[in-house]
Amino acid sequence: MSGLIRPIRLGNQLFGSNLIQAPLAGVSCAPFRDMIWQFGELAYCATEMVSAKTLLLKSIPKRYIYKSPTEGPLCYQLSGTDPDELSKAAYVASAHGADLIDLNCGCPMPKVRRKGCGSAQLSDSSRLYQLVAALRKTTDKPLSIKIRVDGASGSSFTQDVVKAINDGGADFIIVHGRHWTEGYEVPARLDEISAVVQASRIPVIGNGDIKDYQSLQNMFKTGCAGAMVGRASTGRPWLFAELTAIDQGKSFTKPSPVEIGALFLSHIEKLIELENESRALMQGRQFSKYYARSAGLSSEVYLKFYSVKALDELRELIDLNFR
Ligand SMILES: Cc1cc2nc3c(=O)[nH]c(=O)nc-3n(C[C@H](O)[C@H](O)[C@H](O)COP(=O)(O)O)c2cc1C
Repeated sequence: MSGLIRPIRLGNQLFGSNLIQAPLAGVSCAPFRDMIWQFGELAYCATEMVSAKTLLLKSIPKRYIYKSPTEGPLCYQLSGTDPDELSKAAYVASAHGADLIDLNCGCPMPKVRRKGCGSAQLSDSSRLYQLVAALRKTTDKPLSIKIRVDGASGSSFTQDVVKAINDGGADFIIVHGRHWTEGYEVPARLDEISAVVQASRIPVIGNGDIKDYQSLQNMFKTGCAGAMVGRASTGRPWLFAELTAIDQGKSFTKPSPVEIGALFLSHIEKLIELENESRALMQGRQFSKYYARSAGLSSEVYLKFYSVKALDELRELIDLNFR
């Protein structure tokens, strides 16, 4: 199969690819997205989820709002339960360069659900309709709602939720094929993504477990119009370019371990500019695992990165190990 990756119209914008980088809290701030855009071949990246309340603060933490000049299209993902607050937050996001707006209706974290946000929105479709309609009134940018599915929960909210999102005026739905209680480890339920496709008049983007061309093919068998990649591009920012090359029958040369080490270093240097050295190096610990894995290095190697306390030390370790 080929020709899966193609241009897609989302709302009033045409994108050259129907592949999308997912929001990943603690990961998908500007430095991560910049790494993805070095290789390109996707429609857009999403920010980490940011609450409407945070965007309405006088001083918004830079990590949540900063869009780098070298990034491509960016979707700001909002969370909130108040239509007025969400509308104002969408306005702030647009003023900071949002190309698209998304509402998170899938986050499973107790502290988010307790506020009625994230996946808690899935159990009240009439409220969800009001939120979607309020956002639609505020913005003419492509508007998406990211949801999860019924899964093994025994509930059956999906059909009502899909109707509320369609009727509220969103441009497209993103569906992660797991119930919110199912975390990230059970296999994504592609049959339930198909059911969302069937129920929706607006385009549906499928999400869950895409990590290579085979899993991308499986996702497109659901009938979805596009595909969102979550975890698999961490430490592998070339994944979209690789999938696109395969789809076009072209060869793709993966970066060498030395080049992957340079990407890792550049990612952390950008994080230092955005935040500060100690916060960036803390995050570097989790990223070392992903970059090391994609360079074919063992777990003993990435564990060495867990004690790094200064950028020079990181540079030295990368030089010694990514070769
Ligand atoms: C560390 C981590 C952080 C995430 N943060 C968000 C988030 O901020 N907003 C959101 O909608 N989904 C978030 N997700 C879910 C992903 O966007 C995606 O739906 C999920 O990982 C399934 O895709 P995958 O199997 O390709 O990883 C997060 C997932 C992980 C693992």
